Amino acid sequence: MKKLKRTLSISIFVLFIFYFSLFCNGEDESVGALMEKTEQEALYSAIQGFVGKWWNGSDLYPDPCGWTPIQGVTCDLYNGFWYVTDLSIGPIHENSLSCAQNVDFNSHLFELKHLKSLSFFNCFVSPQNHPIFIPTQEWLLLSSNLESLEFRSNPGLIGTIPITFGELKNLQSLVLIENGLTGVIPENLGNLTKLKRLNLARNSFKGNIPHRLGGLNHLLILDISRNSLSGFLPSTFGGMTSLLKLDLSGNKLEGEIPNEIGNLKSLTLLDLSNNRFSGTLTKSIEELTSLEELVLSNNPIGGELLNVEWGDLMGLGVLDLSNTSLTGVIPESIAELKRLRFLGLNDNNLTGLIPTKIESLPYVSAIYIHGNNLTGELKFSEWFYGKMERRFGAWNNPDLCYPVGSVPAGYAPFGVKQCQEEEVTRFNLDSKSKLGSSNWNHVASMGFSVYRVGGLNFLGYVMMVLNFNFLI
Ligand SMILES: *[C@@H]1O[C@H](CO)[C@@H](O)[C@H](O)[C@H]1NC(C)=O
Ligand SMILES: *[C@@H]1O[C@H](CO)[C@@H](O)[C@H](O)[C@H]1NC(C)=O
Ligand SMILES: *[C@@H]1O[C@H](CO)[C@@H](O)[C@H](O)[C@H]1NC(C)=O
Ligand SMILES: *[C@@H]1O[C@H](CO)[C@@H](O)[C@H](O)[C@H]1NC(C)=O
Ligand SMILES: *[C@@H]1O[C@H](CO)[C@@H](O)[C@H](O)[C@H]1NC(C)=O
Repeated sequence: MKKLKRTLSISIFVLFIFYFSLFCNGEDESVGALMEKTEQEALYSAIQGFVGKWWNGSDLYPDPCGWTPIQGVTCDLYNGFWYVTDLSIGPIHENSLSCAQNVDFNSHLFELKHLKSLSFFNCFVSPQNHPIFIPTQEWLLLSSNLESLEFRSNPGLIGTIPITFGELKNLQSLVLIENGLTGVIPENLGNLTKLKRLNLARNSFKGNIPHRLGGLNHLLILDISRNSLSGFLPSTFGGMTSLLKLDLSGNKLEGEIPNEIGNLKSLTLLDLSNNRFSGTLTKSIEELTSLEELVLSNNPIGGELLNVEWGDLMGLGVLDLSNTSLTGVIPESIAELKRLRFLGLNDNNLTGLIPTKIESLPYVSAIYIHGNNLTGELKFSEWFYGKMERRFGAWNNPDLCYPVGSVPAGYAPFGVKQCQEEEVTRFNLDSKSKLGSSNWNHVASMGFSVYRVGGLNFLGYVMMVLNFNFLI
């Protein structure tokens, strides 16, 4: 009996030892893992090139993937050895690696062959004292693993996009925002078929948009805003059927917006503002049924709002068509955009009456219709003016007015004159004579054109309307 007990306790002990050692081994194979000397030296040299000679990696971080991690460096195990997978340089966190004055690309960077992600933020900052070009040759060494390459806010990074970027065939994200880059966009970026994000915004790129970019059918985000691109928007862009956001604002693009744009069924943002697009407001816009923001402002586009079936764009929250040479009337269908928050139709040549229905858009917080040729009476409620304040802009419509006594002085729409007494009297008369309000609108707009042509004063206008009614 005693012997059995003893055997049992020994075996429990042995079992315990066994499990303990198993646990220790299985816990984390990284504990004893090593880093190849070459990988470690390459990492130190690469970082030193950016942060300065004072930075002694082997002193400061003897075990960079183990117990002395470096902010901005991530490692992973391949066959039991540590390799660097992510490297980000620049002042993102308090103890991040910040760049030196005489920063430079060290060719050892390209020995980090397992790099998946490389990013530089605010690192190359002196275009005058220390301009830097992106290296051209070595990128191929990283091409089998690099998925994300980012240069953000580096005004001292100048020159062109290296043609070799087109060989980084596993790239899913290429971000070159707000640098000093120039030249044309290399056509062979169209070879990067795994790209999901391409952001070249805020540089000085010029020339045409390569047609071949249209072949990037996994692209979700394309932003080339605020450059100096010219020429047409390629019709091949209709092929980027996964696209969620397309921002080409702030360039010198011209010509028509191609009908193929209507293929982009997933598009939530289309921003073509501040270009030179012309032609007409294309009907294919109504096919962009996922749109949440449509911004075409400051282009001589022309055409009429009636060209487009606005009611199809049920998700639209922002519609900015200001300064786009639009003519014609504001259709009532605008009021079907129930999610609309911002409506910018200012600085066009719109005419006719303003549909009072837009008052009932539940989320609307800004409506700008100033700088047009809109006419008639504003019939919005005191509640509406109170809610909108200056975010309802209707000034600079010479023949627009609001009825006397319709709203208290503090609520009057800014820059809009009161309708003249005569007209109010006339309007009351009309109501009494059971002339429907739509009928009145019709008469008013007819009267208006007569007024413009005749060049009569406002009383004259009222007289004309009277005469006109009389004739009916
Ligand atoms: C870093 O420091 C070690 C010893 O502290 C020294 O041997 C080595 O040369 C230094 N490396 C650099 C690149 O300064
Ligand atoms: C990449 O693009 C260039 C120019 O656009 C083309 O000539 C070349 O054949 C492409 N390379 C591959 C591998 O697709
Ligand atoms: C209107 O758009 C044109 C380009 O079509 C631009 O030159 C002009 O500055 C814009 N006007 C305003 C007030 O933004
Ligand atoms: C719009 O009106 C302005 C000012 O009258 C005029 O110069 C411009 O040519 C008009 N544009 C169109 C497209 O009708
Ligand atoms: C308003 O229309 C008249 C002609 O109907 C035109 O002369 C005038 O330039 C237009 N104003 C604007 C700002 O478009």
